[in-house]
Amino acid sequence: MNFIQYEQKGAIAVLTIAREKALNALNSQVLDEMDAAVDAINLDEVRCLIITGAGQKSFVAGADIGEMSTLTKAEGEAFGKKGNDVFRKIETLPIPVIAAVNGFALGGGCELSMSCDIRLASENAVFGQPETGLGITPGFGGTQRLARIIPVGKAKEMLYAGTKIKADEALALGLVNAVYPVEELLPAAEKLAGKIARNAPIAVRASKKAVNDGLQVSIDEAIAIEEKLFGSCFETEDQVNGMKAFLNKEKAPAFQNK
Ligand code: CAA
Repeated sequence: MNFIQYEQKGAIAVLTIAREKALNALNSQVLDEMDAAVDAINLDEVRCLIITGAGQKSFVAGADIGEMSTLTKAEGEAFGKKGNDVFRKIETLPIPVIAAVNGFALGGGCELSMSCDIRLASENAVFGQPETGLGITPGFGGTQRLARIIPVGKAKEMLYAGTKIKADEALALGLVNAVYPVEELLPAAEKLAGKIARNAPIAVRASKKAVNDGLQVSIDEAIAIEEKLFGSCFETEDQVNGMKAFLNKEKAPAFQNK
């Protein structure tokens, strides 16, 4: 792979978009490599994925404007589908995904971060959907996910006017969970990933599925989804051992993903 670095550190994996000269902009090759890297994740071992960008300036500065500049209508749709398919794969990955947003998260970069479960940002992070200033709409889910994460009026301002927001405003809006000095961002993401990885993996995955699936349906259907997933945990060894440890006043066990 030329533009994607992937490193597994025990139960945590870090996927880095490494096209630093173009501020990690997403061209077709980067998207194809990201797709292949996500497919190759060892889900028996990895319990949390972190996605970040190479360098200290940019997470991802958007889809590649040079590549998009000559697309036809049909090619534009296909390019949008390519990005959306990868991002949806990330969003529905069984394990949690943390975006460590280390700088510019514009256009496709903001969209990539929003397909992750949790966003942590560096102090120099800038979020925005500047596409209308280029004569296009966001194409990798930005019109849909932004308005689901932050207040709809602010999302519409960002989409129509291209207003960019810095890390502190993203924090105030709930777009990111926390902000760190740039050199502390990845360690903080790894610390959070470690905390997630120590909890019972089947229960963590079921929690992700319950939230994501539940948000798409009525509250009654959503509660029914939770009931099924909750029930399924009682077939696991991790539930037996986790509760036994609590009742014996012992530390939580090393969960076995069984
Ligand atoms: N596509 C292609 N190349 C990009 C890029 C992008 N989205 N963003 C930055 N680059 C390239 C620049 O062309 C430049 O390349 P050269 O050195 O070869 O000239 C290099 O990265 C460094 O960029 P700058 O010199 O512009 O750096 P800067 O510090 O002056 O500015 C920036 C940084 C504000 C992020 C600016 O680069 C910028 O505005 N980038 C574009 C942001 C944008 O509009 N993103 C949305 C793209 S559309 C989209 O994403 C559609 C979608 O939803 C699918």
